[in-house]
Amino acid sequence: MSKKNVLNIKECKNQKKLTMITAYDAASAKIAEKAGIDMILVGDSLGMTIQGNGDTNSVTLEDIIYHTKIVVKNAPNTFVVADMPFMSYEISPAEALQNAGRIFRESGARAVKMEGGKNILPQIQALADAGIPVMGHLGLTPQRAAMLGGFKAQARTAKSAEELLEDALLLEKAGCFSIVLEAVPYKVADFVTKQLTVPTISCGAGKYCDGQVLVFHDMLGLSDFCPRFVKKYANLGELAVSAVQEYIKEVEENTFPAEEHSFNINDEEWKIFAEKHPQ
Ligand code: KIV
Repeated sequence: MSKKNVLNIKECKNQKKLTMITAYDAASAKIAEKAGIDMILVGDSLGMTIQGNGDTNSVTLEDIIYHTKIVVKNAPNTFVVADMPFMSYEISPAEALQNAGRIFRESGARAVKMEGGKNILPQIQALADAGIPVMGHLGLTPQRAAMLGGFKAQARTAKSAEELLEDALLLEKAGCFSIVLEAVPYKVADFVTKQLTVPTISCGAGKYCDGQVLVFHDMLGLSDFCPRFVKKYANLGELAVSAVQEYIKEVEENTFPAEEHSFNINDEEWKIFAEKHPQ
């Protein structure tokens, strides 16, 4: 499969469902690429999955650049999007451009993602004008969880659904090549998807979007907490605990390492050594 770019991602609308997963390190990047995913997101969810924090707000620009570099190196044939972390774009379009420029140049990501609607239009426009593709993110925007009263589904009233639609149309006009809709009722996501010419990517927004994104650790059962909309495709967390418990048991019982996990010395050499050190 050839590496995606912004143009053929847009062309997938109404043609092929887009697939996206987060990755943060060499192992997750290689797994995602081997599996044949269309896009990798180096999400600021790394604040929770990698750093073990309760939210995404403490993730820094340096964190994103560090993890994205690793992912790009280990998934060289996959389109990589990097999250703009909290407070790296809100202050001004100039600051957003400077920080997005650093991510783009230093990490090798081919697009950035920003959370927000009409409040960040000048930022999106500044990046698009400079040639940095932007993926939008509407609905539940975790960086604003404090303002939203927590990690809650959004656009569940007629008024807020209207606002979401308005924001989505504005993001498209400002130059977003795609928009993530997180924790949005499927009927609203379906309607918004049909009004846009750019693909929508659902994260808990139902199956009528143009693609889906899941957090690597959530879908593989490696997170302590998992949102209701996530399907766990494996329970690697439990498997890993059992494997480590078996290792502990075998070490304590002295059954690991077995002969095939040990090195040997050739008999001649051992004889010379042993003769020199009689026991
Ligand atoms: O940070 C992230 O992983 C995200 C996805 C949940 C869309 O923004």
